[in-house]
Amino acid sequence: MAVTILAIESSCDDTSVAIIRDGYVLSNLIANQDIHMLYGGVVPELASRAHQANIVPVTHQALLKAGVNAENIDAVAFTRGPGLLGSLLVGTSFAKGFAIAQNIPLIEVNHLQAHVLAHFILEKDKDNRLPSFPFLCLLVSGGHTRIIIMKNQLDMEVIGNTIDDAAGEAFDKCGKIMGFSYPAGPLIDKLASEGNMNAFRFSKPHVKGLDFSFSGLKTSFLYFLRDRLKEDPDFIEHNKADLCASLQHTIVSILVGKIAKASLQTGIREIGIAGGVSANSGLRAEMKNEAEKSNWNLFIPEFRFTTDNAAMIGITGYFKYLRGEFSGHDVTPLARY
Ligand code: KG4
Ligand code: ZN
Repeated sequence: MAVTILAIESSCDDTSVAIIRDGYVLSNLIANQDIHMLYGGVVPELASRAHQANIVPVTHQALLKAGVNAENIDAVAFTRGPGLLGSLLVGTSFAKGFAIAQNIPLIEVNHLQAHVLAHFILEKDKDNRLPSFPFLCLLVSGGHTRIIIMKNQLDMEVIGNTIDDAAGEAFDKCGKIMGFSYPAGPLIDKLASEGNMNAFRFSKPHVKGLDFSFSGLKTSFLYFLRDRLKEDPDFIEHNKADLCASLQHTIVSILVGKIAKASLQTGIREIGIAGGVSANSGLRAEMKNEAEKSNWNLFIPEFRFTTDNAAMIGITGYFKYLRGEFSGHDVTPLARY
């Protein structure tokens, strides 16, 4: 019998609902919240209100697009955390209501685990090449930067972590210094393609082992611009593309350097990237270079499965469903998971 999961993601500023059947995506809808652009970052209270407004219509559309009725859903998977508490509450409460109404099981999902499991989403008419285990994954998002060993779909070990900012924060905070709106990562990526990555040099941190640090880079970027702006008040405007290319190159080489080190240490050459920053074209290109040099079997998810989406919650929910890992209705969201 086919297993059909309704999945809900509401951890930050995107309301997403997906329908997954036997691991295949039937629909994956995302309602973005543009309101935060006015404030230079996500405003938690506004995010939860927008989730409240979006969740019913997005679910309705996801069911329509998949051609599935609510009565045909076998379980509801939802993001329990980590994320913004108010936002998570909306998704959690809606998931509970849906599960009660249809009398079906509820499955809590860890958002970070789901980013990694995005590698296992199946699509109709695609070759669906899947990693084998153990699988080494660089998880780079707005809130986290980790190196993870996946032993099987639901067993993961974190072997590297950021000691301060995440890679996405490095993009967003440096973008903010240049006057870009939030999130700055995609714009930096776009401008970087027109710039010279060797135009400026920013110092890289020396962090031992497999851990990361990005707060020093942000500070050195700030001081560098402060000095240059004294000489030329239009320095940023005149050098935008080169600044973005050099900054992106620095962040990418820190990330690729550490995953390469992790591969050498563990002997694992089955390698992937996940999370919002894995949409970055510089990171994708550099990972492909390194994969050729070091003979990696490299996995890079489709763009739409890298940033926050419910399909990744659905695939994680599907694996948990197969194992009978369900949650009680007393489950509460967790800002830290
Ligand atoms: O995984 P995600 O969608 O949300 C979190 O769980 O945090 O990641 C969002 C982060 C933001 O910091 C955003 O600037 C970054 O991913 N991002 C990018 C790109 N697209 C999204 N960073 C660099 N280049 C991109 N193309
Ligand atoms: Zn995320």
